[in-house]
This record gives sequence, structure tokens and C-alpha cells, in this order.
Amino acid sequence: MTAEDKKRLAAEAAVDYVKADSIIGVGTGSTVNHFIDLLARKMGRDIRAAVSSSEASSERMIAHGIKVVDLNQAGSLDLYVDGADESNSSLQLIKGGGGALTREKIVAAASREFICIADDSKLVDTLGSFPLPVEVIPMARELVVTELRELGGDPRLRDGFVSDNGNQILDVHGLQIDDALSLETRINQVAGVVCVGLFAHRPANLLILGTDQGIETLKAK
Ligand code: 5RP
Repeated sequence: MTAEDKKRLAAEAAVDYVKADSIIGVGTGSTVNHFIDLLARKMGRDIRAAVSSSEASSERMIAHGIKVVDLNQAGSLDLYVDGADESNSSLQLIKGGGGALTREKIVAAASREFICIADDSKLVDTLGSFPLPVEVIPMARELVVTELRELGGDPRLRDGFVSDNGNQILDVHGLQIDDALSLETRINQVAGVVCVGLFAHRPANLLILGTDQGIETLKAK
């Protein structure tokens, strides 16, 4: 089975968690694109609306006829569905490979349940092989680079990329993240950091993996 097939499998399983007439949070990326397509096909008009984590997901949902509403209008959400670049067995995540980490973290924080969907290559023992994305205010970039180097990382500017919020992204290579909670807190304290793509304080509640054998579901400990 290809990675794409596994992503589709995980996305399909997540659609079963969506309640009719609810407003859900929707993440960003290729796995979520499958989720959006399947959600539209399976639930159609039964879904009341969605809060989106990116312009790309908004466009895709609107093209399917799914109403997209502002988080301020929607208030708290029952469910958020999103992908990840890496997850450990505590369902702490690295996210932001697609550059939507800030809005993803906001929508995740506003949601009671966070279901993460991925192919099984995303489950790792230790976070950090995937470079950790950090969204920065452009004028603070070099200041943040210095701080991240002091933490043992090798931050590299994501060339030519501007986030939906008008900011830049540093991808931090070479980190072995043994204490994700502390690292998230530490990076959040650096002036000029908008968001770090570590989801440790707000991990996923459920991880649905597509595997060669079908779906595997992990619950947060
Ligand atoms: C976007 C993300 C995505 O969830 C993450 O990059 C996974 O993407 P994909 O589903 O394409 O593998 O965090 O900012």
C-alpha cells in the first residue's frame, strides 16, 4: 500500500467521528485533503460548517460546498481533525510541514477532541528527525536563529515561503526532542516567535494511522 493509500484510509476512519450538524475544525495537508474530500462525499449537507486552519483548506472546502466560518463566530469546537509530520506514543506532535502551524495550534486549542490522521511512517520513538518548524516575525528572524542555535538546533529559513499570517518559517534541524513539553515552553518564550510546531501541551487525543494491515488507533496515555 502506498503512503497516499494509508493517508486516505486514516482520513476515511476520521469521517466516522464527525457528528451530523456539527461545526468541526479542519487542519491542513495532503492527509487532510483526503479527509475534506471524503467528508464532502459522505456527509455533504449534513455538516453545518467548518473552521479552517489555512487558506488552502478553506478553498478546498468551499469548492466542495462546505461552509467555512470564523473561529470567533464558532466558539469552542467538539472536534478537530488534522495531520502531523511526526507523532510519538504520547501523541505529542511535530506539525507545520505545510506551514500552517499557527492557525492549526489555535484551532486545536479551541477543540475538545483532536484526532490526528497519518500514515504509519509518522509514528516515531523520539520527535525531531523531521525539522521542527518555527513561525517567526520577519524582523526577529536572526534573533530567533541565535536562540535556536543555543538550544542545539540548526535553524534554516524556509526559502521563499510566507505563511498565511505574513510571517517566515525556520525549520530547525538536528534536534532530538526528549522533553517536548519543556522545549515547547522554552521556544515560546523567545521574542519574535509566533508559534513553534511542537504540539506537546495540546497533544492529539487520538491518532489514527493507516497501515498495510488497515487502521491502527492510538489513544493519548
Ligand atoms: C501542515 C501540517 C500537516 O498536518 C503536516 O505537514 C502533515 O502533512 P501531510 O498530511 O501532507 O503529510 O502540519 O502545517
